[in-house]
Amino acid sequence: MNILVTGGAGFIGSNFVFYYLREHPEDQLTVLDALTYAGNLQTLQPVMEQENFHFVKGDVADRETVFALFEEKKFDIVVNFAAESHVDRSIEDPGVFLRTNILGTQVLMDAARAFGVSRFHQVGTDEVYGDLPLDRPDLFFTEDMPLTASSPYSASKASADLLAMAYHRTYGLPVSISRCSNNYGPYQFPEKLIPLMIANALADKPLPVYGTGENVRDWLYVEDHCRAIDLILRGDAVGRVYNIGGHNEKTNLDVVKTILKQLGKPESLITFVGDRKGHDLRYAIDPAKIHADLGWLPQTDFDTGIRQTIDWYLENKEWWETIISGEYQQYYEKMYGNR
Ligand code: NAD
Ligand code: DAU
Repeated sequence: MNILVTGGAGFIGSNFVFYYLREHPEDQLTVLDALTYAGNLQTLQPVMEQENFHFVKGDVADRETVFALFEEKKFDIVVNFAAESHVDRSIEDPGVFLRTNILGTQVLMDAARAFGVSRFHQVGTDEVYGDLPLDRPDLFFTEDMPLTASSPYSASKASADLLAMAYHRTYGLPVSISRCSNNYGPYQFPEKLIPLMIANALADKPLPVYGTGENVRDWLYVEDHCRAIDLILRGDAVGRVYNIGGHNEKTNLDVVKTILKQLGKPESLITFVGDRKGHDLRYAIDPAKIHADLGWLPQTDFDTGIRQTIDWYLENKEWWETIISGEYQQYYEKMYGNR
């Protein structure tokens, strides 16, 4: 098999690359990544010299680059991780989200149609279902729920999912879609809740919790997400959507307190700041379909996963300290300075 992984220098994409090369050493894997602020070539160093690994710097929305790459490589499978992924940035500046997440997906699917693939997998998100109320713990996201969106990010991801299903129905493109809940683990960019709180706590800086901290997210260890996608690629999943999540709901405040406890830092570092605009209240995945069809179940519980993640950030300070010493400082000041 010859597989294209877009966005493979980002958080989940890089974890998927490591997982895939370990599980399928006989396959060829190419990463296409524009190396935006969120992409980091350093992350891919461990596999860079491997003969079956290839890296191409390029933009998924650049038709010429994408078509030339498909023509050269004749991919069997495409897994599209490439995206602008941070909700707060989408609220500040939606334009690039529409370009990468919608038009980029279109360009990739056009190339997949033109050169032929056996599977185009679109990596989606549970945010396309909107949110659930906090006082109805009996409700979960299922695949047949209507799509709705609270942020420009989730609207762009919902658009990409709709486009992917349209390409399947209209052109017969062999599309599958997964919609995962919040991931955590190694190599996550420190703008996201968990690595941001770890970095701030280690520096004894305030931990900025939006609103009341009561919002709920459904956390999944990144490797469980990677294994789910691999199962979907190998299963009879064309035309299907799979939700991925491990029934691991936590309030943001609980997550932050867990991090502080493990790092031996005081809860007095918690600082409540202005809420995110349009802030989704609760995400909660019903993973019954992927379990029934493909036998997937998460393997890492939150206590184990968060310990492993914190240990990784402690052991790999250079990776994230390099990031937060650069233009991240201006980002942080802009987002949190007057919050
Ligand atoms: P990330 O921001 O860490 O990485 C995104 C990667 O895409 C980066 O390497 C970046 O350089 C690359 N990229 C951005 N624009 C590009 C472009 N125009 N052309 C080529 N490459 C480009 O994101 P992530 O958290 O790893 O998310 C990966 C995917 O998974 C996204 O599609 C996201 O919507 C989805 N997802 C994320 C989560 C989560 O919790 N992080 C959960 C569910 C789904
Ligand atoms: O559910 C899947 C989605 O999870 C993915 O599609 C997105 O790409 C990914 O970024 C993530 O979105 P969230 O908005 O849920 O993740 P984030 O880490 O930004 O925030 C998690 C929660 O923590 C959210 O309720 C907002 C809150 N938060 C976040 C930050 C960065 C804070 O309270 N303070 C913060 O500083």
